[in-house]
Amino acid sequence: MTELQIKEREMIGFSKANDDEVLNNMGKYCAGHYERLGLVVRKTEGAWLYDKNGKKYLDCLAAYSAANQGHHHPGIVRAVTDALANGYGSVVSNVVYTDPLGLFVKKLSEMVPQLGPRFGKNGNKALLKNGGVESVETAIKMMRYYGWKSKGIADGKQEIIVFSNNFHGRMITEVSFATTKKYKEGFGPLTPGFVTVDYGDLEDVKKAINKNTCGILVEPMQGEGGMYIPPDGFLKGLRELSDKHDLFLVFDEIQVGLGRTGKMFCFEHENVVPDGIVLGKAISGGLVPLSAFVTNSEMMDLAFKAGSEGSTYGGYPLACVAGCAALDVIIEENLPERAAEKGAILKKKIEDIASRSSHVKEVRGKGLFIGIEVNDGDAMKYCRKLLDLGVLANDSHGHTIRISPPLIIADDEIDYLVERLEKVLVD
Ligand SMILES: Cc1ncc(COP(=O)(O)O)c(C=O)c1O
Repeated sequence: MTELQIKEREMIGFSKANDDEVLNNMGKYCAGHYERLGLVVRKTEGAWLYDKNGKKYLDCLAAYSAANQGHHHPGIVRAVTDALANGYGSVVSNVVYTDPLGLFVKKLSEMVPQLGPRFGKNGNKALLKNGGVESVETAIKMMRYYGWKSKGIADGKQEIIVFSNNFHGRMITEVSFATTKKYKEGFGPLTPGFVTVDYGDLEDVKKAINKNTCGILVEPMQGEGGMYIPPDGFLKGLRELSDKHDLFLVFDEIQVGLGRTGKMFCFEHENVVPDGIVLGKAISGGLVPLSAFVTNSEMMDLAFKAGSEGSTYGGYPLACVAGCAALDVIIEENLPERAAEKGAILKKKIEDIASRSSHVKEVRGKGLFIGIEVNDGDAMKYCRKLLDLGVLANDSHGHTIRISPPLIIADDEIDYLVERLEKVLVD
């Protein structure tokens, strides 16, 4: 059924290719590093994706939280197009200053609570990159440098505690300490210096701490690992252990930060403050890539001097303009509160479906970060059925259907989703 006719446009990057031709082009020339559902998206708007015939799909994946503000948010589009039309979008060599970079790092550093207050209370600083994994690398460098410079650990001996089921991206260092075989098999030699303990298990963390431990890197909730929420008190316990043993505590909030779980930052659920955080995805509102490592300003100055970090596009004007607009939308539209409110309604409705379904093992989540674990361990089977019914969702770790729509999702859109989940999950 055609609900909206997509205009045939003469535009670079936009052809009259039919879906089969798009699939063929991608099959022949694109690396096959993603398992894709058979949908060719031609247009995006708000919480919706459209195919060539104008059929609508409710986006319950939101690009893994990159589209928290909704697709093509008018405020973010306006900021980016204004910048381009007025000559301040292009990448500029990092040997000069730009206004958008100054504005963005000020906005970001000030909206994050004082990180690592034990190091001083002169505010935070941000170091910008492009994809999230790049900022995870910055965080790892920070932790290792801290271990060497402040704790006197021999350079090369620093150890970082990480967790089972973790996901911090797919560069060599991050896959080196992944516990998922397919991320790393055959890609050795792997990066040393990481000790893996059970996610949620403070006793395990205690046992892993030794004289070479410099930091702890943790997702405050695990997205790719299966949509897991750690036991109450886990983040607080990590904070206490970090204080006791002088460890640099970093939370990777790339997927769960910026409103997704019903708080601006996930660590606010437990009222603890880490020493550094990593942000990405929604930080630029889904239009251009941008990521950030944010920490106490004393610590940033300790670890990074001219030449010890860098990125050609990291913090370039267009990304910073998008970033300023994206953060404004999150704050002005109260997206964290909205995620808490809509998420509570949606989770309750999903729990009701689960109580009548023979397929659901567990429903878990906070805010608009909800996982539905299925008994047969094949979440994609249900996602394919959902796609036929006009909903895009995917699996997390094979066994769990991930429901993480844009945070602007409206009540009638929630009803639309619930109706389809009911069809797919209740016999
Ligand atoms: C927690 C977490 N860390 C890091 C990353 C990597 O981010 P990117 O794919 O932008 O490099 C992701 C991506 O899903 C993530 O969820």
